[in-house]
Amino acid sequence: MSTELLSLAKYLAASRSEFELSELNQYLSKKYSEKELYELLKPHFYDLDLFCESNKCTKLVKHALQVDEAVIGQLEAQLKNPALTPRIEKLIGSYIERKCGRNWYTGGTGQLIRENIVKQKEEYWKGKAQYPRIRMISYLLYHFPVYFCQFQYLLLDLLKVGLLTNKMSILDVGSGPGTITLSTLDFLKKLQDVYSSRKIDEKLNIIIDSIEPVKENIDCYIELTSDYLGGVLPGNTMINLNKPVHMSVEKAKLSKGFDLLVFSNILAEMKAPPQHRADAIEKLAAGKNPAVIIIEPADLVNSKALRISQSALIRKGFTVYSPCTSIWGIMCDCRDCWSFREAGHIRVPGFMRTIAGTDVPYRYINTDMKFSYVVLRKDGLTEQKYQAKGKFIRLSNLKKHIKKRINVVASVMSGNLGDEKNFVFKLCDSTSSIPVYAVLPYYHMTEKNRQLFDAAYGNIIEIFGSLVRENAELSSFNLLITRNTSINLVHI
Ligand SMILES: C[S@@+](CC[C@H](N)C(=O)[O-])C[C@H]1O[C@@H](n2cnc3c(N)ncnc32)[C@H](O)[C@@H]1O
Repeated sequence: MSTELLSLAKYLAASRSEFELSELNQYLSKKYSEKELYELLKPHFYDLDLFCESNKCTKLVKHALQVDEAVIGQLEAQLKNPALTPRIEKLIGSYIERKCGRNWYTGGTGQLIRENIVKQKEEYWKGKAQYPRIRMISYLLYHFPVYFCQFQYLLLDLLKVGLLTNKMSILDVGSGPGTITLSTLDFLKKLQDVYSSRKIDEKLNIIIDSIEPVKENIDCYIELTSDYLGGVLPGNTMINLNKPVHMSVEKAKLSKGFDLLVFSNILAEMKAPPQHRADAIEKLAAGKNPAVIIIEPADLVNSKALRISQSALIRKGFTVYSPCTSIWGIMCDCRDCWSFREAGHIRVPGFMRTIAGTDVPYRYINTDMKFSYVVLRKDGLTEQKYQAKGKFIRLSNLKKHIKKRINVVASVMSGNLGDEKNFVFKLCDSTSSIPVYAVLPYYHMTEKNRQLFDAAYGNIIEIFGSLVRENAELSSFNLLITRNTSINLVHI
């Protein structure tokens, strides 16, 4: 592209709130069609702060995406019944058919895929994902749907507090088949549909970069995302998907400042021990103040490892936005923390049901959204602003209060870990390295203590009059919630 064209576009972008692309021809020595102008300038629209349709460009001033109660309500209603949208389900189904034939779920191929799903799971539980043959197919069939759906809950959290912007640069690290990229595109489509139903005009210009060391995964990423972008795009949305960087995250040097960095299910696959994984994350987050989202599986080993990496990042100057809160102004060292969010079950996608067949189908059905995550920032921004005052006992001091009734304030860091007779919730106030649980026997449930159930993952509760018990066997403390205990969900 000529420097004359780019300089002119820069000038118009800086001096006008909108302009027609055809206007450029008035000042250029060489004339272009509107289509040519659009294609030539497309890679520069983002840096020029422009939103452009085929004939017209509008100046884009970066701001938090518009939200109000109605927008959030509509999105929450959609996420209440989590499922792959028909378009994504079709996209994945067609990809599998293209790679494995129309009858992919029968005969030798079906058998191989089923074996692979089981093998991938076993390797994963041993902490060593190997991805043997047909790895992408079995990943798409078994893991993709849950990871795709759960990520949209985190996007919604960020949208609510203004951390998603109309001009946004996103990095999908260890992108695999494109789970996070596709989930983001699908979320933006849902959002634009809501905007349009509420007559809200919000123009978006989004760039997505990705890093992935496995060539086969990159091919899958390119195929799936191109298919998606080849279909109907959400109105008012410009998407620039850059070619994936074929490299491991440790070696990647991307100097751009990103707004959102996503590491979804990749930390466990990095060769370095958990505390050193932070080095690569720090390098990519340099320059700006991005929201760094790290998601890992909920199992004990991977979940605890995530918290160790999280601690290392805190030592490097990052602050935790969510889910942990430094209620007493300090952050724990997270050496021994097993905590994960539960977001319910997704609807079984058609292709998953097909491969499951009727023979021990549970082996091939994966719908449970349980994940460990952290959102980090560098500016001290936190989801919960609450600061405790003197009337509460810190969880690190529980040993001194065994068998006494005390008041504490803490975040609820799990769903119910017990059963219907005894409800058990993990608590944390960031002071204690020993696990602490609130235990509420069903027969002690009252109007005064049932707010325990209203607390979402990461929400803060004040507990008045709970009985401290030591669980020597599990090296933990239980706070017994009785009918004399009252609980207050903190709203900030
Ligand atoms: C479990 S998959 C997750 C894919 C996707 N992010 C998701 O959530 O579905 C892990 C991905 O990380 C990639 N990966 C493994 N080690 C990596 C590294 N050192 N740097 C970047 N990516 C890596 C793998 O090739 C694979 O695509």
